[in-house]
Amino acid sequence: MTTVALTRAQAYETSDDVGRNDSANTTIGDIIAARFDRRDVLRGALGAAAIAATVSPLALAAAPARANDSSRFRFTEVEAGVDADHHVADGYDADVLIRWGDPVLADAPAFDPMRQTAAAQKLQFGYNNDYLGYLPMPGAANPSQHGLLVVNHEYTSEELMFPGLGRQDLKSVAFAGITKDLADIEMAAHGGTVIEVKRENGQWRVVAGSKYARRIDADTPMDITGPAAGHDRMRTGADPTGRRVSGMLNNCAGGLTPWGTWLTCEENFHGYFWGKIADDHTEARTHKRYGVAGNWYAWGKYYERFDVAKEPHEANRFGWIVEIDPFDPGSTPKKRTALGRMKHEGAEGLVNRDGRYVIYTGDDERFEYVYRFVSTARADPSNAAANRNILDNGILSVARFNADGSVNWLPLVYGQGPLTAANGFHSQADVLIETRRAADLLGATRMDRPEDVEANPQTDKVYVLLTNNSRRKPEQVDAANPRADNAFGHIIEMIPPAGDHAADRFAWEILVKCGDPSIAPVGATFSSETSRDGWFGMPDNAAVDGQGRLWIATDGNSGKRTGRADGLWGVETEGPLRGTSRHFYRVPAGAELCGPHFTPDDETLFVAVQHPGEADNGAKEAATFENPSTRWPDFKPGIPPRPAIVAITRRGGGRIAI
Ligand code: FEO
Ligand code: CA
Ligand code: CA
Ligand code: CA
Repeated sequence: MTTVALTRAQAYETSDDVGRNDSANTTIGDIIAARFDRRDVLRGALGAAAIAATVSPLALAAAPARANDSSRFRFTEVEAGVDADHHVADGYDADVLIRWGDPVLADAPAFDPMRQTAAAQKLQFGYNNDYLGYLPMPGAANPSQHGLLVVNHEYTSEELMFPGLGRQDLKSVAFAGITKDLADIEMAAHGGTVIEVKRENGQWRVVAGSKYARRIDADTPMDITGPAAGHDRMRTGADPTGRRVSGMLNNCAGGLTPWGTWLTCEENFHGYFWGKIADDHTEARTHKRYGVAGNWYAWGKYYERFDVAKEPHEANRFGWIVEIDPFDPGSTPKKRTALGRMKHEGAEGLVNRDGRYVIYTGDDERFEYVYRFVSTARADPSNAAANRNILDNGILSVARFNADGSVNWLPLVYGQGPLTAANGFHSQADVLIETRRAADLLGATRMDRPEDVEANPQTDKVYVLLTNNSRRKPEQVDAANPRADNAFGHIIEMIPPAGDHAADRFAWEILVKCGDPSIAPVGATFSSETSRDGWFGMPDNAAVDGQGRLWIATDGNSGKRTGRADGLWGVETEGPLRGTSRHFYRVPAGAELCGPHFTPDDETLFVAVQHPGEADNGAKEAATFENPSTRWPDFKPGIPPRPAIVAITRRGGGRIAI
């Protein structure tokens, strides 16, 4: 199958240890996609007998769009499909709150995509919003109608942001069009944003001129804390202390802590470096394990720190979880090295029954691992200051999923087991800088791209979203990753014993294998109550609402792959309807859905629409500034698509999906 070069988001999906891969090998996903198209034709032209030849008996037994009175998700499903706009279930409003280029700081200039500058971008909302979190304003009359919104800006897409440029990261182009000015805009569009938001007369708005408003970008000074801080391998020419770094990169998902801070996770940091180091360099093995240098951006042309030949340690200072206090706009963000170095997806956590703080995090790449951090100290939610450095001390462990339905948490502790000088580890700093290699040696289970890992505090079950892995071969399947060529992903449920999230051993089972349940070879396991709009592929981010219900956001659905855009689905986890999924919201063409997050009263659902306007998977032409797949949300000629945060509320008020 011939395809054009992948969009950047598609390349992220397919990135692996050898860096960005611009080829698209034929997978069962492609075969199923082709079959999907043909099936539509059959439906129209040949009728039920022909469909029966291509779909499973289970699918035929399932009634379409069945309303079930016992469902915990009460809404009329949105129709699955792809078009230029977003769509929410009937009776709800989905309003854009803030878009790329909108003002964040008081003196921000108006957005002008034809004349963008780094100075403007540093004051405006960044690109490709991913994680978002809502923190109620202390003392607010209604804590669910006034708070801070924290947002990650994961990456930039030069072909959609800048006029007349097109893709620059292709070998044939070699960043020829990227000037220092453009690189500086890209750097300023990364990082994160803090905004103050208020709901008045039912409408959410950004509070202009808020004292909390903040932009964080690829240059913002940050501290490095925890066991790897100050280590030789963290020192550079610009920072001989190994304790101070400029910026954070590729911040994907994250989490909020009960002491009011924002955890934001560096994911595909390898893509920001270029250049070569010698094969016998002391960092060569580590860089290779993380895919450094990935050559996704040309920043190394203008800033030596992004050139590994000139500054081989700089890459060691990325791939961490960053803790930020959004209520103190002057505070210095802290890279918490005790949480390990990897391509972190998120950092959702909870206070364990014994008071220790537990964070779950996935390393989002094919065949990578699921991790857990347990703090040494107990969290004191009533005293924020007491928790200030609680994430600098604790035990990081990695998961081994056993075929008997148990999970072992294997501690990554220097001096224990194979993590010794015999294997090149001379301190806990080495173990953390090389988290992946340490986990390899412990025998962790190689997973199908772990994205969000989210605990449900009402049931203590922990959901692991495995988005896909088209490279798993039949001889590589295991109990926890049971499908070869796993094009559509699955969700694992982990169950801690007696709700103890710090226990050495959990139980696990699969909640659902994703994909179209009507195509038998896919092997999807949604319940038969799931409608034809209700199934999804490629689970990525999760949210648990105040009712303890699980919501799943997806990344990678498309007209070609699944006949549907990405979006949000409510998934039953308990009782006879377990595994039933219902479609609540879908994003415009080219986009993925990130950051679902509910206000404490469940009356507002904030979502992040990321990379709208990219080309559909398998599209003949690459999308560009001039020719995007949608101009959502402005729909104005000459205005490119703009990643945006959307507030979803119930018309007339009330909780979502009750
Ligand atoms: Fe940035 Fe794992 O998605
Ligand atoms: Ca993600
Ligand atoms: Ca989440
Ligand atoms: Ca993803």
